[in-house]
Amino acid sequence: METQTKAGYADVLVGLQYGDEGKARVVDHLAGAYDVIARFNGGANAGHTIVTASGELRLRQIPSGVLHRRVALYIGSGCVIGLQQLASELGMLAAYGIDLAGRLTISDRCPLVQPVHVLRDRNEGGQIGTTGNGIGPCYADLAVRMHDGERCSFQLRDLLRDAEEVFEKLNRAAALREEGELANAMNRMREAWDVVRPFVTDDPLWLPRRVEQGARVLFEGAQSVMLDVVHGDQPWVTSSHTLPSYAYVGGDLPCKYHRKTIGVAKAIVSRVGGGPLPTELGGERSERYCADAARSGRGKADEAAGANALALLAGDDDFGIGMALRMLSNEYGTGTGRPRRVGLLDLAQLRLAVQQFGIDEVFVNKCDSLAAFARCADQGIPVMVGKGYAGGRHTIRFPAFGEAAIPKDPAAPLPPQLVALLTRVEEVIGRPLRGIGLGPGREQMRMVEEHQEDMK
Ligand code: IMP
Repeated sequence: METQTKAGYADVLVGLQYGDEGKARVVDHLAGAYDVIARFNGGANAGHTIVTASGELRLRQIPSGVLHRRVALYIGSGCVIGLQQLASELGMLAAYGIDLAGRLTISDRCPLVQPVHVLRDRNEGGQIGTTGNGIGPCYADLAVRMHDGERCSFQLRDLLRDAEEVFEKLNRAAALREEGELANAMNRMREAWDVVRPFVTDDPLWLPRRVEQGARVLFEGAQSVMLDVVHGDQPWVTSSHTLPSYAYVGGDLPCKYHRKTIGVAKAIVSRVGGGPLPTELGGERSERYCADAARSGRGKADEAAGANALALLAGDDDFGIGMALRMLSNEYGTGTGRPRRVGLLDLAQLRLAVQQFGIDEVFVNKCDSLAAFARCADQGIPVMVGKGYAGGRHTIRFPAFGEAAIPKDPAAPLPPQLVALLTRVEEVIGRPLRGIGLGPGREQMRMVEEHQEDMK
């Protein structure tokens, strides 16, 4: 008699703020309970960092389940592919002892980021503060399809069919523009394609078939809901759809397999590039300062050399407190090294994101960074609450806790001040907290069910 296999399911994990909430470390933490970790949006603009005992692993296009050798990895058609960056990411992982042969699969529907996209992004993306990886122009050309009577977008399936023809077309376009830099980039793309090609599948059922046979999938969002191309504040957004529902479009799976949606937030917020950040410490001054620093290449080392974080915390200048928080909690771009703009946790915004995007449970990272507020003159942890931007927003202060109160022992209780704050967060957003980040290390993530008593 034939036995029927029970179908699997998919969960979707997204960032709830402006990116850099620590999604990768949550994915790394959860990956063991899944069979496939899949990306559905974005490209090399993502900077996903996993801190391991032997160093930091920085991923841009490859899903963050890499350290779990049993888990398969999938890059869905909603992602754009930067061939050279992907080839060098594969090389970096190989040097780390992680061989992805037979583990990584890439949809042949993914659009190709062309050298001309990168050039256009670097020339025109400055005002938005893009990451300069050609993401916007690549998604735009996909929608435009033809330009001056020629195709302007190619997918990996075009390369599978006839790579030389595609490279010839790109070469001609480069030659027309007389950009020597572009022609060189084309040669490097050819080499990178040889590395990436074995991972590309033309099978649209690659993921559905596995799930039908019982596979459990975790979709890993890149960027975050506030940077969504439609729902974010145009033009200061990325060019892909970052919302959880889109996981099934860009991740190539029927939505009937959806089980739950996981959100990741950070206890302080940060943003790179331009655009509104309503709780920014130091307001416009901070925005201008970070934009100038990004333009002139100033980053972490310069701030460490020029400023004293503890002295800034003791002062009464919000801009200085923001800089100190950035220094103490390492808020610098993973891919770019740019100083991130830093702000207070915005509970109203978080609640709206949870409601609007159907988030079932939440992880809160960087709770340890709140200890810096114990060194401030008024010694409270400020959090923004209230309704919307116009009506009745104000800051409330929770009792502070110092660094010494953050437990090193995973079984030790959390500081009661932090428990009080997180309990309030749960009440406001109306969803349970599932995990709490107390530091960047893998062992510094606490699952809430293990500490129910603390949270009550
Ligand atoms: P793009 O995605 O490179 O076009 O950049 C558009 C905007 O999204 C810029 O403000 C970037 O700083 C931001 N952005 C893109 N990727 C990330 C990310 O992974 N984390 C945080 N911000 C990002």
